[in-house]
Amino acid sequence: MQDRFYFGTNTKMFKTAAETVDYLRRLEELTCGIPRERAERFVIPSYTSLGPARTELDRAGSGILLGAQNMGWEERGQYTGEISPLMLREAGARLVMAGHSERRHTFRETDAEEEKKVRCALDHGFRVLLCVGEQLEDRQYGTGDEVLRIQLKVGLHGVRPEEADRVWVAYEPVWAIGLNGIPADEGYAGEKHRMLRGTLEELFGEAGSRVPLLYGGSVNPENAVALSRCEEIDGLFIGRSAWDAERFAAIMCAVLEAA
Ligand code: 13P
Repeated sequence: MQDRFYFGTNTKMFKTAAETVDYLRRLEELTCGIPRERAERFVIPSYTSLGPARTELDRAGSGILLGAQNMGWEERGQYTGEISPLMLREAGARLVMAGHSERRHTFRETDAEEEKKVRCALDHGFRVLLCVGEQLEDRQYGTGDEVLRIQLKVGLHGVRPEEADRVWVAYEPVWAIGLNGIPADEGYAGEKHRMLRGTLEELFGEAGSRVPLLYGGSVNPENAVALSRCEEIDGLFIGRSAWDAERFAAIMCAVLEAA
């Protein structure tokens, strides 16, 4: 585990703007004492929550980083239902997620589309969180590493080593995510993280060793500390177990105390 650990949540299609603001207020109260050098905290709420969330975080002087769950790769155009980097910046997002498993598998997004989003987000000054993950059948066929390497190499294609300090990667095995998900054990997660780290170093050289590599998929209060102790796991990206501010704060404290 590195000196600085990453704790983030994606609230998916849960929490209205009012609920997000209440949540952020409570999370900030509970975690504001954690120094930024020790922990990077980030929250990725719905689009309609971004503006009110920005106002709340600024009011509180909070260090919680605000992100968007997705982004179109053009500034404007005839793209009904999409949201552009200009709109996300105006709403107050500083981080953009690309390639979440629900985007890839429920909405059939491709690796090439994730690449365009990553490029566009970097060009507009955002940090980018690229999510990668193999499906159960990839694991069964023994092709998980190939799938992960392709997702990473295509998604980050064209990113220059000097831009790598704005890239974060989340490894979220598809079979581990959500209500029916089974969390990966530390051994499996650690092995995949080592492979991903090697690929990041192939892509970016030395800069690849500094890209934060987060684990996500059914992280909960029972497994968070063990996962955080894996050498190549730099952070936890959490869904359900982080949507209650008390629970999320308790995970952060437990991980940091165990470090
Ligand atoms: P869960 O923690 O609910 O499995 O969700 C993980 C996730 O998808 C984070 O983006």
